[in-house]
Amino acid sequence: MNILVLMIIAYLLGSIPSGVWIGKLLYHKDIREYGSGNTGATNTFRILGAKAGTLALIIDVMKGTLATYLPIWLGSDIHPIFIGIFAILGHVFPLYIKFKGGKAVATSAGVALALHPIFLLIFVGVFLILLFTTSIVSISSILAVFFAAIGSFFINDPIFSTIIWIVALLIIYLHRENINRLRDGTESKVPFGLRSSK
Ligand code: G3P
Repeated sequence: MNILVLMIIAYLLGSIPSGVWIGKLLYHKDIREYGSGNTGATNTFRILGAKAGTLALIIDVMKGTLATYLPIWLGSDIHPIFIGIFAILGHVFPLYIKFKGGKAVATSAGVALALHPIFLLIFVGVFLILLFTTSIVSISSILAVFFAAIGSFFINDPIFSTIIWIVALLIIYLHRENINRLRDGTESKVPFGLRSSK
């Protein structure tokens, strides 16, 4: 299949705004009007609860994984991350909801899952330790992504490492409002962990 077609399919897949559609279809609520206003799984958890949040998280991860597998399944010569990155772009700039999407953490994790699952496991471990110690999703995401970018140098896949660095910088940039709230001490906390809101 033509590489351009694969990129378009990956972008359309990544564009699926899982949290927004789950909220509207199953809960008659637009999560963009509540909490952080973000379309991602964290805000879905926050506003709609664990079931909806887990579903959004799984869909967001799978968007990245499926898109990255497309060129592998089709026997294309292109490095799969060049297709996976279009799912990430779709998630951040989704066609279906006026190009205002999420912060790319889950979909990027899905891309890593397809290419380097052990690397992803380490990222998830670091993320969970940070979440337990800080009780704040955004700081855990930012630091885990930063450590993942550094850790990517230990993988023998320079194209993957280069793209992971670009994606990490994009993710940190997309968290700029969270960074402001962290600075002001107003960032919301999860109800578990050492510094929980409960
Ligand atoms: O992955 C997004 C997360 O790091 C922050 O989400 O809703 O708190 O802005 P949120």
